Amino acid sequence: MQTGTLYGIGVGPGDPELITLKAINILQKVSVVFAASSTKNSYSLAEKIVSPHLKKGTPVIHLGFPMTLEKKTLETAWQDNAAKVISATKQGKDAAFITLGDPLIYSTFGYLMEAVQKNDPEISIKIVPGITSYHAAAAAAKQVIAKAEESFTVMSGALGEGNLQKAIETSDTVVMLKVYRKYREILDTLTKFNLADQSVLVSRCGLDDENIIKDIAKHRDIMPHYLSMLLIRKQD
Ligand SMILES: C[S@@+](CC[C@H](N)C(=O)[O-])C[C@H]1O[C@@H](n2cnc3c(N)ncnc32)[C@H](O)[C@@H]1O
Repeated sequence: MQTGTLYGIGVGPGDPELITLKAINILQKVSVVFAASSTKNSYSLAEKIVSPHLKKGTPVIHLGFPMTLEKKTLETAWQDNAAKVISATKQGKDAAFITLGDPLIYSTFGYLMEAVQKNDPEISIKIVPGITSYHAAAAAAKQVIAKAEESFTVMSGALGEGNLQKAIETSDTVVMLKVYRKYREILDTLTKFNLADQSVLVSRCGLDDENIIKDIAKHRDIMPHYLSMLLIRKQD
């Protein structure tokens, strides 16, 4: 029996129209769909986006991803998840792992792919890029990310303002994802560098309750939604 292919599919940032034709074509063919189950709201959103495109009866299997930074626990979880995916492909099934935005930008697909490659290098893996959340957010906020010879940094705000100062010093624009927990600390740093006025907080981009806040200094006490990011622009 021929082994199936594992597809890493980016489903776009939330707007159901921002999924690619290639992603839809593959989703219509696969026998099984996998999705991470504990990245807060994102898995159910990814599932909602793909469900109209699946063949009737296609199972959607959630892969557990413990909310911990403990390396051993994470490795064990991804070994188990990789085993489930490998087992499906060994049964000749083509499988899709769906992820919000792009599969290679802060996605659990990165861990899954590495674990599958390590355990069975023969499995064919194909990746369909997705429109990232920050491309959609920049479009929604009508905010240039880079012009001419400028450079930009994409970073995580999960650990707070950490490397933000360095990124500000070396880039014309900083795109900061995962800002919801440490938002206030990050805002204080932006205020210190006189950048709060030039920063935009985009939440739930492309969804019915999308929210774009341009005067973030006046919104210090909010707790942004998990699906939120900052576009920090030094120039213009
Ligand atoms: C685990 S990362 C996933 C990134 C995704 N793979 C991508 O390519 O954009 C989750 C973070 O992406 C950002 N994000 C994803 N979708 C978003 C949306 N619709 N609106 C605003 N931010 C979003 C948020 O910063 C969120 O904390």
